[in-house]
Amino acid sequence: MSTGADAVKLMKQQVGKAAADRVQSGSIVGLGTGSTTAYAIQYLGDRIKSGDLKDIKGIPTSFQASVLAKQYGIPLTTLDEVDRIHIAIDGADEVDPQKQLIKGGGAAHTREKVVDGLAELFIVVVDRSKLVERLGSTFPVPIEVLPMAVTPVMRALEKLGGKPELRMGVKKDGPVITDQGNMVLDVTFANISNPAELEKTLNNIPGVLENGIFVDLANVILIGEIQDGQPIVREM
Ligand code: A5P
Repeated sequence: MSTGADAVKLMKQQVGKAAADRVQSGSIVGLGTGSTTAYAIQYLGDRIKSGDLKDIKGIPTSFQASVLAKQYGIPLTTLDEVDRIHIAIDGADEVDPQKQLIKGGGAAHTREKVVDGLAELFIVVVDRSKLVERLGSTFPVPIEVLPMAVTPVMRALEKLGGKPELRMGVKKDGPVITDQGNMVLDVTFANISNPAELEKTLNNIPGVLENGIFVDLANVILIGEIQDGQPIVREM
């Protein structure tokens, strides 16, 4: 293993593959967003190409997911066309011991919550760096906000004890704009003692579309780790 970056890539690849291996022919599959899920999408494509996996349809959670799905030959559908999602595979920015998550590092959490929340089986794919004892300890809570409501929402978040920051683009001047045309506030809270309550409180602020706290949605957490120099996958 030459560098830390190589190790992280290996862990993500292995965990993505392990999740893709759990998809059965004939399934409607929620396709998550992020670098780890990207490997799962790639392996789903490999399984389709080899003939091992037949008749699946993907529901993308972002522009990125739909581009990758097309690239790897996964047919897509929409929520209007299906009455169930059998399985969803998605990454996370933090996972606590109760399988509660913070998501939205890629600004896709609004559509992710819709798709992952509808899935009969929601598999989260992470490398071990995402595991935390308490949500909010390494990552702020992403909140998607209507552009015209950014200032009042920031004030409301400060009243709740949060420190909101407007997410800015990389290699793009100005704020990040979501796939739905909205903005993202990354909010640091000193102590998230009750994630379920905070999730509801945040979504109750007028102008907030959705926040990145996912409570009671994840069924399976697959964790990529390096053991004796080799990538392994463990289930929480
Ligand atoms: C997208 O908005 C997020 O919820 C991602 O699922 C999350 O950021 C995980 O991404 P990585 O797999 O790239 O770490």
